[in-house]
Formats: sequence, structure tokens, C-alpha cells
Amino acid sequence: MFANYFNKTPMPIFYGKAVLADYLKSIKTQESTIGFVPTMGALHQGHLSLMQQSMAKNPITVVSIFVNPTQFNNPEDLAKYPRKLEEDLAKINALNPEIVVYAPPVEDIYEGNPASQHFDFDGLENQMEGRFRPGHFDGVGTIVKRLFEIVQPTNAYFGKKDFQQLQIVKKMVAKNKMNVNVIGCSIYREPNKLAMSSRNELLSPKERHEASIIYETLIQAKAKFENSSAKEVTEWVQKSFENNPVFTLEYYQIADEDTLLPCLRKSKNKKYRSFIAVFVNNIRLIDTISLK
Ligand code: PAF
Repeated sequence: MFANYFNKTPMPIFYGKAVLADYLKSIKTQESTIGFVPTMGALHQGHLSLMQQSMAKNPITVVSIFVNPTQFNNPEDLAKYPRKLEEDLAKINALNPEIVVYAPPVEDIYEGNPASQHFDFDGLENQMEGRFRPGHFDGVGTIVKRLFEIVQPTNAYFGKKDFQQLQIVKKMVAKNKMNVNVIGCSIYREPNKLAMSSRNELLSPKERHEASIIYETLIQAKAKFENSSAKEVTEWVQKSFENNPVFTLEYYQIADEDTLLPCLRKSKNKKYRSFIAVFVNNIRLIDTISLK
């Protein structure tokens, strides 16, 4: 399948890190910056907008497509994660056939040892996603660090839907003194305001439509936060999901944007953000908005 697509298109697609590195070396001049968009494929408009932002700033854009096994704490979730390489390549080709694609097999990244390195992200990893998905951020840190070492980007683009991931990648870059600018990009939403995610494809049309409840709840909670404490708002969110037969709340948390620690007492000097994770039919959806 891969070879067929490669034969039909002049797009630079690489399945091995050594050939990718050789190619990048051959096209890179001293001034040319590399913009990098790491993805797990099943590309949607949100991913394409990250690529557009990269292309606007960098003469070379690299996109990786790799469903990283080490960041999945749940094997079922890994098994059902959508994989659509042919469609992804067609979307990238339509956007700009010069985008360099790196779509490695697991072996090319992990060389016989698909295991995570352990990271200390100064506590960012212990909140929210880290609490409910043990080991997830070690997996994310491991793959992002490897991809940065392989691609050697100047700028790397991440969506703010995974805000905790964005903060963790920034922390990893700072702690390891990596020479990469990590750029957080706005969340892309479907017409009903559901945050775009590859997982949305797993929803039935009805579930996808009704998933507007997630953003609606975030907006109402934001209004309530003006005159109520984080605890009161959290209890209100929990209550509003209590009798919902379709959507099950995993967590709602109002946290400091920088430390990701829960807001116990409001402070004027802090920037707060609310974070939510919800299950619908075993599919896990997350979203976040700023409370500024
Ligand atoms: O956000 C994602 O899609 C993934 O966590 C990433 C950054 C590509 C690492 O596998």
C-alpha cells in the first residue's frame, strides 16, 4: 500500500529515519528553518492548520505520522485508534506536495525495544491526563524527544487541545536544553464546537452531534467561574453529567495554566484554564478552554 502511493506521487515520503535525515540534509541550506508537525495520523482540519502555520514560517515542513504505542495505557484504545495512511497522504499532497512526510514503522523508532523512558516534568505529569492515563506522558516524552532528534526542527507545532501535552513538551525541551521552539496553536472545532480530534471518527453521527455538550458545558462553567469558586463550578459540572446516559465525565479540573495545579483559591495573578475528559461509548474525548 505504501509503495503504491509513493509510486503515484512525487511527494517526499520516508519510512526510515536514516533516509529522512539524508534527504533533509540535501535540501536544507544554512538559513532554512525546519517546521515540524508530529501527528498520529487520521488527519483532520486541525492538523492541516498546524501544517499551514508551519509552512507560513518555514521553507521546509516535516510531518510525522506514527501511532506511538508507548503512550497508550489502554491496549484497546491503541488497537482501535484510526489508521488512514493513504487518506492522510492524499490530504497532505493536496495541501502542499513539498511537505516531507515521515511515516515510520514501530521498529524504525524503537529498534526492538518499544518502551518509554521515564521523565520528571516537575509535576506537570501528575495532573489530569497523567492521573487517569498512567505512563502516558512518559510515552509522549519518549516519542517527541526521539522525533526531535531525528527531524531536528527549528519550530514544532502542537495543538492546544492537548494543552497538558504542550506544557510537558515545553518542559522537556527546557530541561534537556533542546534547540526547538515549541509553538501552541489554537484549537480547531467542528461546526457544533466539538474540538477536532482523530477520535471523533470513532463516534456515531448521533454521538458526534451530541458531543457539543462538552464545549457547551465548558462555556457555562466559565461563566459560573466569574462568581463562584473552582470547587463550586466543578461540583456543578459533575452534577450536570450525573444523569447523562450517553456521556460519562472522567474529570473536570480548573487549573493554573503554568503549573497545571488545581485552583484551590482564586488568585488575580494567575491564568486559569478548565480541562475536561469525557467518555462516550468507550471513546475518550478531551477539551480545554482558557478562563481569562
Ligand atoms: O498529539 C499527538 O498526536 C501525539 O501525542 C504526538 C504529539 C504526535 C506524539 O505521539
